[in-house]
Amino acid sequence: MDYDLLVAQVSALLGDESDFIANAANFSAFVYHEIPDLNWAGFYFATPAGDLVLGPFNGRPACTRLPKGRGVCGAAYASRRTVVVDDVHTFADHIACDSASVSEIVVPIRTGAIEGVFDVDSPRAARFSDADREGIERLVQAFLKASERELMQ
Ligand code: SME
Repeated sequence: MDYDLLVAQVSALLGDESDFIANAANFSAFVYHEIPDLNWAGFYFATPAGDLVLGPFNGRPACTRLPKGRGVCGAAYASRRTVVVDDVHTFADHIACDSASVSEIVVPIRTGAIEGVFDVDSPRAARFSDADREGIERLVQAFLKASERELMQ
């Protein structure tokens, strides 16, 4: 994957728009369609109580609310670190929204203005390499850069 190119494309895609929901929706669609072998890509945003509630995504309908600290998403949000799971069947607390998902990566978002995670799922075991982790983290940073600017306007 040419993540340099994808980052440039994300910045161009979001650059002129000032609506946070529109950008989160387009970002999810972009990732879902540009990165091969995915079955889900999208956001969960944190409530004041710490639950994660479904945001814009692409893929099949998903779990609406993940209780605080639960699942791969809850683990990534609580630890403030990206979590990569090669096979969700080996992750005891995985929350199965779609039985097709086998591997996943969850990037935490902790800017103050935007709190939550970006979750990407694949039907393939061990889909996400270190290069994918780094690339997807950079894509999320590009999304946040555009979106924080918008939220401050
Ligand atoms: N897999 C997640 C739940 C969200 S769905 O995959 C869209 C988890 O265990 O946190």
